[in-house]
This record gives sequence, C-alpha cells and structure tokens, in this order.
Amino acid sequence: MKQTINLAEKIKAKQSVVAVIGLGYVGLPLAVTVAKKGFKVIGIDVNTKNIESVNAGKNYIGDVDDADLESCVKNGYLHASNDYSNIKNADVVVIAVPSPLDKYHQPDMKYIISAITSIVENLTEDTLVVLESTTYPGTTHEIIVPPIVKKGFVVGETVYVAFSPERVDPGNKDFKTNNTPKVIGGETANCNIVAKAFYENVLDSNVHLVSSPAVAEMEKIFENTFRNINIALSNEMTILCERMGINFWEVIDAAKTKPYGFMAFYPGPGVGGHCIPIDPFYLTWKAREYSYHTRMIELAGEINMEMPNFVLNKAIRLLNQSGKALSEAKVLLLGAAYKKDIEDVRESPIQNLMVLLEEWNANFDYYDPWIPSFKNPLNQKSYTSTKQANPQDYDIVIIMTDHSDFNYEEIVGKAKIVLDTRNAAKNVKSDKIVLL
Ligand SMILES: NC(=O)c1ccc[n+]([C@@H]2O[C@H](COP(=O)([O-])OP(=O)(O)OC[C@H]3O[C@@H](n4cnc5c(N)ncnc54)[C@H](O)[C@@H]3O)[C@@H](O)[C@H]2O)c1
Repeated sequence: MKQTINLAEKIKAKQSVVAVIGLGYVGLPLAVTVAKKGFKVIGIDVNTKNIESVNAGKNYIGDVDDADLESCVKNGYLHASNDYSNIKNADVVVIAVPSPLDKYHQPDMKYIISAITSIVENLTEDTLVVLESTTYPGTTHEIIVPPIVKKGFVVGETVYVAFSPERVDPGNKDFKTNNTPKVIGGETANCNIVAKAFYENVLDSNVHLVSSPAVAEMEKIFENTFRNINIALSNEMTILCERMGINFWEVIDAAKTKPYGFMAFYPGPGVGGHCIPIDPFYLTWKAREYSYHTRMIELAGEINMEMPNFVLNKAIRLLNQSGKALSEAKVLLLGAAYKKDIEDVRESPIQNLMVLLEEWNANFDYYDPWIPSFKNPLNQKSYTSTKQANPQDYDIVIIMTDHSDFNYEEIVGKAKIVLDTRNAAKNVKSDKIVLL
C-alpha cells in the first residue's frame, strides 16, 4: 500500500517520467498530451524514421498539432529513442504498439509480446505498466502479467498493471486523446488507484474504473464490434434497397428524426482502418477457446468485405449503360483514405477495389491529396495519386472517401458518371450522380 501511495503521489506531483511505447496514431498524440501536462516523456519506437522526426520536432500524425510537438521537444519534455533501457528511469510505461491480424485472420501478438519482453528486461520497482493496444479479453492477465511476476515483482505491490483502451478517433475535431473519457481496468485494486492517478493527471476527461483488465479489454472490442455490425446492417439495407428501388440514404435521414432508440450508421464501399475491420476478430478468435462461435461478428465481416465487389458490379453496370465495357473504360477513384480528412490508408476498401479492377483489366487512377502514394498490401503494388483530379478525362468517377476539401460541385460538373459510395455530393443536384 505504501508504494501505491508513493507512486500515485509522485504522479500527482508531476515528478514521474512517462514512457510511451510505439509512436504511431495512438502513441504520438498520447506522448504529446502527457508532455503538455508537464511530465517528462520518453517515446520508444523501433522505427528510426519516427524517432528522428520526433527529435527534430517534426510531426507526422494528423491529430497532433505541429507547434505542440515542436515545443514539447524544444522544451525537453519529449524525447524519442529506440533504447528500451530508458524504461529504467520511467515511473509509468504505456504500450501503444500495433495489434493487427495475421494472414489467417488471427491475432498477431508479436508486437505486444516483443514490447513487454523488452520492458520487463528493464523494469524497476514502483512502476505502472498500462497496455493501451486493442486486444482480446485476457491479454493483460495472460501476456503482460506473467513475465512481470516471473521477474520477481508482485503485481499491485511493487509493480502496477492495467489495461486502458485507446479510443482516439483520427480526424475527429471535437474529441482528441485529452478529452475522450478513459476506461481503466487494473489487475488489482491498487493498480486501479495508481492508473487512475495517472490518467486523471494527464487527461482532461473523466476516468471510468472497471473491476479487471478483461472488462476493459472486452469493453473496447464491444465498442468496435457494435460499430462494425451496425455498418454491416446499413450495407445490407443498401444492397436490398437497390433491388427495391429505394434510396437508403433518404431512409437513414428519416430514421434519424427519431429522438431515441436509433443511431445513424452509414453504408460505404467497405470498412477500413486499424480498428473496426480487425478488433472484432480478436474476440472471434478468443471465443473459440470457450467453444463459442461469434456469428454476428462473422456475418458482419462477410457483408462488409463484400462491399468492394458490390461497388465494382455497380460500376460495371453503369458503364455498360453508357456503352462502355470496364476493360475499355478509364476509372477515377476519388479518395483512398479509409475515412475522410485523414492520411491513413490501412485496410481501406480501395485496396480491395484496386485488386478487383486489375482482375478486370480496368484502366484506373486514384486521386487523394491526403495519400500521395501507398503500397497495397493485398498485391504488394505501389500506387501514386494523380497530381490533380480531372474528372473529364474519365468514363466514371467513383467517390471512395468523402474528404471535406473536395469540390463536389466541380467534380460532378466535369464528370460523365459519378458513383458516390459516401453520399459525399449530397448538396449537388445532378442526374450524373448514382448513390451506392
Ligand atoms: N489508429 C487508431 O485509430 C486506433 C484507435 C484506437 C486504438 N488503436 C489501437 O492502438 C494500437 C496502436 O495502433 P496505431 O494505429 O497507433 O498503430 P501504428 O502502427 O500507427 O503505431 C504503432 C507504432 O508502434 C511501433 N512499434 C512496433 N513494434 C514496436 C516495439 N516492439 N517497440 C516499440 N515500438 C514498436 C511502430 O513502429 C509504430 O510506430 C493498436 O492496438 C490499435 O488497435 C488504434
């Protein structure tokens, strides 16, 4: 108990050093948020480019303010390194490394395992270790705690362990790392006390304590599964509404007028990003250990993964109606990011659509000022954005991402056919627009 009070008091007095492991979309905003609150932060990453950028005060994550990063680095509150021995001086260690799926669609735990192995080699008494990476319920207890105990620490007495999911929504203008409510599940009651002291002192948001890491781990997957399944429902309704000749976007607008019991989720060309298409399958995998088949998750995944095919078929039909075969047409894919106003193309449905278009020998370009170029992991090919969108040069324009700074009036004006998968051009009146 003495150490609990010591560490919690040290945190409250801002005398503690914080290590953030993984300086990506989650870790860098967190590192800057913590440094801005007056804590010394050491960011640890295995990517030399990220380390050099941070130490040069150069930002590479959209949700981080350039000036904030620069001043944290200049004032000595933030420093990046690949050297895990820095953990010896840290009082709080937050893990924000990737948690993707492997090629068999199963959790790929190598980043989390590698991070905790290197942390434990350098861990000292009176340190709080928090896992923020999204993962299946049981990870903290089964993967983070055992090496700590093996090293001779007593969890809840000499070292404190918690899971606290990161909920950042890249590109969200209102909710950032600092003001999004935080859920914390400590391994013991003392762990909860210390973890609460940490987050209350570095964030401006409310902190919600739960009784175990597993509850917090499940809570995060439940949030993202809820989203994934509701998007799948909207996608399924879109497919049906097309057959029935009903505009599903109009249906959603009408349903939204209900002040309770309804929440709008929108269809699209598929789901992307490092969370929604991935996290539910962490649970699917874990559920098998309990002889349970997560049918709704599998079905939602199936429907969402079919959407690029649905887009392709619709494009083929529209081109045929204008007398062109897809293999003879020029196609412009407008937007590559998995959602609007961000520079992230991970798991974006454009990746699947590009593979399909190539199977059909289609001639296509993409245009996205947020994504100048990218390598498609599905076919290992590299693609470069055209310098500017010239819709008049193409037989069809497929709006894949509803970026705010696209001039939809001009795009529709110049295009021959627009297949709008996001209802992005909703304020433009034209017969050329066909909704998903
Ligand atoms: N991106 C999001 O919107 C989001 C939102 C909520 C939660 N999450 C979760 O947060 C976690 C991190 O996601 P992200 O989007 O920030 O990933 P990211 O790929 O942007 O960043 C991860 C960073 O970790 C580094 N890294 C990998 N292995 C490492 C190791 N052993 N030691 C130190 N650094 C290492 C990588 O070089 C990279 O810079 C994932 O579990 C993800 O599911 C992401």
